[in-house]
Amino acid sequence: MMQTGSIRLAGGALEGEMSLTPIGEPRRKITTATIHEKKLHREPITCLTAYDYAAARLVDEAGIDMVLVGDSLAMTMLGYENTLSVTMDEMLHHVKAVRRGVKDALLIADMPYGSYQVDVKEALLNATRFVKEGGAEAVKMEGGEKRVDMIRGLIDAEIPVAGHIGLTPQSLNVMGGYKVQGKTLGAIEQLMRDAVALDRAGVACLYLEGIPREVAAMITAEVETPTIGIGAGPDCDGQVLVFHDLVNLTFGQPAKFVRRYGDAKALITQSVLSYKADVASHQFPSDGESYHLPKDTQGALETILHRKQAMRR
Ligand code: KIV
Repeated sequence: MMQTGSIRLAGGALEGEMSLTPIGEPRRKITTATIHEKKLHREPITCLTAYDYAAARLVDEAGIDMVLVGDSLAMTMLGYENTLSVTMDEMLHHVKAVRRGVKDALLIADMPYGSYQVDVKEALLNATRFVKEGGAEAVKMEGGEKRVDMIRGLIDAEIPVAGHIGLTPQSLNVMGGYKVQGKTLGAIEQLMRDAVALDRAGVACLYLEGIPREVAAMITAEVETPTIGIGAGPDCDGQVLVFHDLVNLTFGQPAKFVRRYGDAKALITQSVLSYKADVASHQFPSDGESYHLPKDTQGALETILHRKQAMRR
């Protein structure tokens, strides 16, 4: 590994092209213990999704606590209509790329639909692949009380598990669409039971998606595990957003809870249009962007060409 000042060059394909200036102070490795400490000290926990090496590096170097390789990559990266089609192999491909980009953040891999619903044994085999082959430090699975045995099985096998309740996108067909959950007294009671059951089972954190702020606040106050909200209001212990929502790389109306922090779509479109125009008008590449022959080779080449021309006359 090459050392330039305090900067390590690990030899990745993008090393020469990307900023090598670390953003912010060096930090210690984030573990499941770190995020529990943060809850105890009421320090907000930050989480973003990332699905590839470049985004993973940017998110990690910006000092985000947790990187989630969410099954939302089914839509954001692979263009599927929903999360139901994405496979273990597709997820693993992205987890490996993100692993290569993440240094300090806690890396969580999302168990795709069908990879854990059959039985504990299959869940364990698939979760183990994420840890062994993908380098994930925790796995996430959707569902409440009904997942408790499965979660215990994984924790017994030394795999930290993140829970995920509320609007669980893998239950799309059962919910009849992406609808805010926990709006009736019965539904609130069930969500509380789910949260408490997962907390007792020992989840490393609990994602709360698409539920009223008031319900998320009650759950957060009730459980010891850190809650990470998305569309669950500001009273959770932390927040997560989908990377593509954050930077406007999605192609539809954003959900109410999304805040756009940048406009990568506009930036990329403008860059592509400028490139196209420059190629069409012969302005790219310039002489300065071209390779040139060494002077002695150039001289020798010119001599040969002159001789050939003279012989032709
Ligand atoms: O897949 C995903 O991105 C998620 C988060 C929205 C929590 O599950």
